[in-house]
Amino acid sequence: MTGIKIISTGSCLPRRVVTNDDMAALVETSDQWITQRTGIRRRRFAAPEEDTVSLALGAARAALESGGVPPEKIGAVLVATFTPSTLVPNTACLLQQQLGLPQDVTALDLNSACSGFLYGLRVARGLLCQEPDRYVLVVGSEVLSRVVDFTDRGTCVLFGDGAGAAVVAAAPEAPFVWTAGARGDAQALRCAGITGSGGPLSPVVQMDGREVFRFAVDTVPRAIRRVTEEAGISGSQVDWYLCHQANARIIAHVAKTLAQPEEKFFMNLSEYGNTSAASIPIALDEMNRGGLLRRGQKLVLAGFGGGLTWGAALMEW
Ligand code: COA
Repeated sequence: MTGIKIISTGSCLPRRVVTNDDMAALVETSDQWITQRTGIRRRRFAAPEEDTVSLALGAARAALESGGVPPEKIGAVLVATFTPSTLVPNTACLLQQQLGLPQDVTALDLNSACSGFLYGLRVARGLLCQEPDRYVLVVGSEVLSRVVDFTDRGTCVLFGDGAGAAVVAAAPEAPFVWTAGARGDAQALRCAGITGSGGPLSPVVQMDGREVFRFAVDTVPRAIRRVTEEAGISGSQVDWYLCHQANARIIAHVAKTLAQPEEKFFMNLSEYGNTSAASIPIALDEMNRGGLLRRGQKLVLAGFGGGLTWGAALMEW
């Protein structure tokens, strides 16, 4: 079984910045409440002409360009999203067309909510075992502003839009230790899809925030411990932890439970809020462009989200 390496990254954020004060004009909330309870200060919302496809395209182009990767080297394109613009064609097929990827590409959307990018890395690894000479483009792209209820202050302040992408290659010598799970729960976090009524779709995110918080602080440290133990390394040998960017308090809990310094947990959620499947690849791209990552460093990625789903991966940069 081969390991994998991320050879380049990219991201694309809508230009429109929405501050906590802007949110306070919509619902009964305040900058102070949002900042204290979540760490979020701003988020980006897509303009009418932007959507999951255009953001995914921007992130994917940036990843291909920064890695100098020619489109014909891509053997598969995976898009993690639960806010696709169209169900058919899927977002990945639209990327195939608009990026000029070869037609013998595997083009797949996958939905594991906020764990989607991590699940995508695992699928990428499986595909790379079969076809190690080409790369897999893994994208997370979301326009959550189109599925939040702007009358529900318990959810609408949390989410933002954006996309991140990574070009992934087979790397036989590199470690890739992965764990994941799913626990079907339609109450804690939910967004409707096609319903039996046949009426028009109007999916809206509904969430029991406290329940999701409890789930996250229980599951994420256990998943991280599992991958470090399986890799035979201690927590302190990990150079960076990159958790799904949902809430700074959740990340602080995880750091405390693992007895690791919070400085090793990269965070950019103050700027973008929770961008679901896009949060980890956007953060990876910021870390990469900011010069925080050096080849050979050990990196743990960890996510959780609707489903409920979770996952963690240990890999080498
Ligand atoms: N502004 C002001 N008050 C708000 C508010 C907002 N935006 N949202 C909720 N409140 C109120 C509640 O109505 C409640 O009021 P009450 O005590 O009068 O009933 C009070 O704040 C406390 O609510 P509670 O839900 O206990 O707050 P909390 O400390 O758990 O924080 C979340 C709420 C949503 C920030 C927190 O539970 C959380 O982050 N959960 C995880 C959510 C998540 O990450 N989801 C995505 C998973 S991928």
